[in-house]
Amino acid sequence: MSFLMETRGLCRYFGGVKAIHDLNLEVREGLIQSVIGPNGAGKTTLFNVVSGILPPTSGQVFFKGAAIGGTAPHRIASMGVTRTFQNLQLFSDMTVQENVMVGMHLKSRGGFFTSALKLPLVWKEERRIREISAEILDFTGLGKYASLIAGSLPFGRQRVLEIARALGSEPQLLMLDEPAAGLNNRETSDLSELIGRIREKGITILLVEHDMDLVMEISEHVMVLDQGQKIAEGNPELVRNDEKVLKAYLGEE
Ligand SMILES: Nc1ncnc2c1ncn2[C@@H]1O[C@H](COP(=O)(O)OP(=O)(O)O)[C@@H](O)[C@H]1O
Ligand SMILES: [Mg+2]
Repeated sequence: MSFLMETRGLCRYFGGVKAIHDLNLEVREGLIQSVIGPNGAGKTTLFNVVSGILPPTSGQVFFKGAAIGGTAPHRIASMGVTRTFQNLQLFSDMTVQENVMVGMHLKSRGGFFTSALKLPLVWKEERRIREISAEILDFTGLGKYASLIAGSLPFGRQRVLEIARALGSEPQLLMLDEPAAGLNNRETSDLSELIGRIREKGITILLVEHDMDLVMEISEHVMVLDQGQKIAEGNPELVRNDEKVLKAYLGEE
């Protein structure tokens, strides 16, 4: 069986800290899968390596069978791998719609500058980007905020906007780093529903999340990291009752 994304013997060290160590991870196409683990387990580092922000120390990342470890982030994004950030990274003084459009511009062939040479095409491209970004905002429930300044939105909506912007790059694999952090119950259940609808569009979801109720509710497969290594995986029920997993979390509380 081949996987949408996998890591083989992946290592990422920071000096003496083995943030990721000899990790073999398989992400199946079309599912919602989660990576959980205590603070410092290496979850964000995993996303940083897969999305190209950090090169692996050794080992490899494969996306649709191609080795992508060490490839530049914008190239990995254009292949269809997009992630959101644990700490929001929006353009807070741009409008909501512009935030989504920026992600799309970065992907469109010409880019901001070179495309200025072929104006009529640019107008068409510009209109297409406007239309699609409006669709994405409607899809994520942000349509009525399109022209507001992103930084003026309540925190929960900014989190959704970060996901909307990620959708603008038309990902096949969407990696969400703690999207429920700071959300109230109502916002978390809206998020859960949104993630389900994104998956229905055929986008594979890899979720890092601390909210165990959310993880158990929406994941079809859960992988548990502890000190950079996979200590358990399987369906949510199985993982929840795994002794190694309970032990790893004991140090936390
Ligand atoms: N850029 C970095 N430089 C040095 N150490 C880092 C860096 N990023 C992460 N680490 C370390 O790697 C380990 C894993 O961190 P991280 O991936 O953020 O864990 P998690 O997201 O699971 O909480 C931690 O010990 C952290 O301090
Ligand atoms: Mg993290």
